[in-house]
Amino acid sequence: YPGAVALPLEVRGGEAPGRCMRQLHVVYQTVELPETHQMLRQTCRDFAEKELAPIAAQLDKEHRFPAEQVKKMGSLGLLAMDVPEEYKGAGLDYLAYSIAMEEISRGCASTGAVMSVNNSLYLGPLLKFGSEEQKHKWIAPFTAGDKVGCFALSEPGNGSDAGAASTVAWLDGDEWVLNGTKAWITNAWEASATVVFATTDKSKKHKGISAFLVPMPTPGLSLGKKEDKLGIRASSTANLIFEDCRIPKANLLGEQGMGFKIAMQTLDSGRIGIASQALGIAQAALDCAVDYSEKRMAFGAPITKLQAIQFKLADMALALESARLLTWRAAMLKDNGKPYTKEAAIAKLAASEAATAISHQAIQILGGMGYVTEMPAERHYRDARITEIYEGTSEIQRLVIAGQLLKAYQG
Ligand SMILES: Cc1cc2nc3c(=O)[nH]c(=O)nc-3n(C[C@H](O)[C@H](O)[C@H](O)COP(=O)(O)OP(=O)(O)OC[C@H]3O[C@@H](n4cnc5c(N)ncnc54)[C@H](O)[C@@H]3O)c2cc1C
Ligand SMILES: *[C@@H]1O[C@H](CO)[C@@H](O)[C@H](O)[C@H]1NC(C)=O
Ligand SMILES: *[C@@H]1O[C@H](CO)[C@@H](O)[C@H](O)[C@H]1NC(C)=O
Ligand SMILES: *[C@@H]1O[C@H](CO)[C@@H](O)[C@H](O)[C@H]1NC(C)=O
Repeated sequence: YPGAVALPLEVRGGEAPGRCMRQLHVVYQTVELPETHQMLRQTCRDFAEKELAPIAAQLDKEHRFPAEQVKKMGSLGLLAMDVPEEYKGAGLDYLAYSIAMEEISRGCASTGAVMSVNNSLYLGPLLKFGSEEQKHKWIAPFTAGDKVGCFALSEPGNGSDAGAASTVAWLDGDEWVLNGTKAWITNAWEASATVVFATTDKSKKHKGISAFLVPMPTPGLSLGKKEDKLGIRASSTANLIFEDCRIPKANLLGEQGMGFKIAMQTLDSGRIGIASQALGIAQAALDCAVDYSEKRMAFGAPITKLQAIQFKLADMALALESARLLTWRAAMLKDNGKPYTKEAAIAKLAASEAATAISHQAIQILGGMGYVTEMPAERHYRDARITEIYEGTSEIQRLVIAGQLLKAYQG
């Protein structure tokens, strides 16, 4: 893995600063990974431990985008992971992406969110649906390392029901003109480009939606205020407001009317990324709970001696490790070119619910210390919550799973 070589050596080894960090060295027992993936995991773990975990609380507090860290991740290939080398990506598979995403999110979930959007939501649709010309224009030249993309599907009036989107686009000579407001856009304030979905034919409902590539900044496109969020506070989230925003005709991604399909397929793979982000948050919460409970004395002994605590830890490990296997299964199916819509939804649902449950119990195990910002447990709890909302809420995942399941039974 080329990133392992590119990694600055000083980020390897050394004492992990901050409380709760010791357990980052724990190696979880799991199915055997290929050597390249093991090396990648170690590289990302070292990076997260050294460069992200120590500043995650500060970034959260100040709502600060981790610009410097994101740049380093770019040079490690972590922001264009499954992009082929011909477009200057790392040329890795989705399992590698899942593993890297978990380790990065274990150090800082906000950074995981930034990474997820650039990889799966911005680059994903470009790779799959872009023309050769578009791929060269919108992927390769960005690889200098300091650009991120974003993905604009949701609107103030419709999120889960993305087919109801009302942003419009019409052709005027050689240009598309876009009008409408997109909501909740991750990376909005930092992005250099966005994939945006707009309807070119309202009468066709979701079949009238098309996808477009829009450079940022550009005349006619403005940003809303940064949302003040519960978690992943170091990543920006804001509205994108299009007012007679003109882009070249060539910026249509895929064919006209293909937008809804592009969005849904993008979310299928994106969900593997969110599942992996949730795993990282859950692992960090478990690390923290174990570390604390080994040291905390109550009634004359460490609380790890209490069966009540042990059972909580066991349940946390159960939820985490089963979700991890489900996530890797979905990634492997994608890598092998098999259908994975249901499996990605199962992974996302399992991992996000595991992350909220585990971070909830971690606070319980820390008692009062779980409730204050001196320890990372409360941040994990806040960060975990979004994984049940974006890229399809848990309810939407259940709809997808049931739909696929019933379809399979009908043959
Ligand atoms: C921090 C953050 C970052 C985000 N980043 C992005 C981004 O980068 N790009 C982007 O396009 N969007 C993004 N989103 C938007 C996100 O994907 C939506 O918030 C999400 O899809 C839910 O849509 P909604 O908020 O409109 O909720 P609604 O769709 O209004 O849902 C409200 C409730 O109703 C439930 N519900 C809705 N329909 C059904 C149904 N058919 N069956 C059962 N229950 C249902 C939902 O599950 C939910 O509980 C982000 C959101 C947040 C908070
Ligand atoms: C986001 O992806 C592009 C496309 O490959 C890449 O060039 C860029 O470096 C990535 N962003 C960052 C911050 O590295
Ligand atoms: C979708 O939301 C927009 C506002 O963001 C609203 O104008 C539009 O009517 C909604 N679409 C439907 C079908 O409700
Ligand atoms: C697009 O939006 C602008 C500004 O909001 C408005 O003046 C214009 O009439 C809109 N055009 C269409 C075709 O809706």
